[in-house]
Amino acid sequence: MRMVDLIKKKRDGGTLSEAEIKHIIAGYTSGEITDYQMSAFLMSVYFEDMTDEEITCLTMEMSQSGDVIDLSDIKGVKVDKHSTGGVGDTTTLVLAPLVASVGAAVAKMSGRGLGHTGGTIDKLEAIPGFQVEIPNDDFIRLVNESYVAVTGQSGDLAPADKKIYALRDVTATVDSIPLIASSIMSKKIASGADAIVLDVTTGDGAFMKNIEDAERLAHTMVRIGKLANRQTMAIISDMSQPLGNAIGNANEIKEAIDALKGDGPEDLMEMVYTLGSQMVVLAKKADTLEEARAMLEENVKNGKATDKFKEMIRNQGGDDSVVDHPEKLPQAKYVFEVPSKETGVVSKMVADQIGIAAMLLGAGRRTKEEPIDYAVGLYLNKKVGDAVKEGESLVTIYANREDVEDVKQVLYDNIEIGKEGVEPTLIHKVITE
Ligand code: URA
Ligand code: CA
Repeated sequence: MRMVDLIKKKRDGGTLSEAEIKHIIAGYTSGEITDYQMSAFLMSVYFEDMTDEEITCLTMEMSQSGDVIDLSDIKGVKVDKHSTGGVGDTTTLVLAPLVASVGAAVAKMSGRGLGHTGGTIDKLEAIPGFQVEIPNDDFIRLVNESYVAVTGQSGDLAPADKKIYALRDVTATVDSIPLIASSIMSKKIASGADAIVLDVTTGDGAFMKNIEDAERLAHTMVRIGKLANRQTMAIISDMSQPLGNAIGNANEIKEAIDALKGDGPEDLMEMVYTLGSQMVVLAKKADTLEEARAMLEENVKNGKATDKFKEMIRNQGGDDSVVDHPEKLPQAKYVFEVPSKETGVVSKMVADQIGIAAMLLGAGRRTKEEPIDYAVGLYLNKKVGDAVKEGESLVTIYANREDVEDVKQVLYDNIEIGKEGVEPTLIHKVITE
């Protein structure tokens, strides 16, 4: 088989066989297929798309390209949750301890943030002492004993995806449904959970800018999950504006603590209960979504969710006193307000650009190697649909530098004040097949 013929076949709209896809993934992972040929192939997939069979085959080959984690030593159904990316998305930080508090096993592999999006692993590292890299044995033991552990992606999990993703990033081939679906699902399948709850985001802050594309991505991933014998479901959620109020690392930990105590922003709480109920049902800890939701709400009220978060922090070497004393989290030196220039209603907050404003402060990274500053970030005092008076603060900036004019400019450019603003629908759809 020659790679040039396979590129040509896809370029001309052909359908690749299982053997051909295997050849491409094995060849690229081992280095026999070059970056320039793979780039041409990815671009042909971008334009010509793939059939369901091709996407499934691509995903399976990528998931088996390195370590495949066996979680069968963990008792019961192991659930994982994955978001296709967002801004200020504090959901996982709340869900992991909350869902574990009702006895469902949460074995969570999370990533770091890149560009305008944040990552759960970075946020957890804002807690003094918290270890995100834990050996497999410890991970399994913690989930068995405490029902929850959160870890970073292990070294050799789906290396084909790691290589392909890096190439996509620099060849304008990230926003392709077959490539995103195979990238995400190959990692989820290799990391071993029995049940997967997907949050497919849509809007300015997401890869999928419209609901139709998000729906196709969701259906594709759910189908792949089922073919790989994993119970899989997806919700399609809005990411046109950031989720909740806090964007950053330490400040999102603080927001997660508030949410676990029942005091989180409304949109974040709704996401948490919607996704959490699905996770609890998939883990067979409740028969209906209503029953699951009631269990979660109860554990927020009685403090069990907060206790579970403390336990999770202790288990992974962190200082759990931050839960009752969030002032012990890294604090920024300077605080600035961004006053509204007019009176009206917030009509737009462009999620990805606001994520970039947080990144400029140091809360996120431009390149994979950049360090991040846990203390800095943004707090949105207003969200779309809120009334605002001239001079009232739209956003509070937490910074470790004295001059934040560049950040303010990005915020002013991307927050629109109009005569009216409609709060966007948060959850567009639930997809189970
Ligand atoms: N997240 C991933 O892991 N892969 C993609 O392709 C997009 C988002
Ligand atoms: Ca948030």
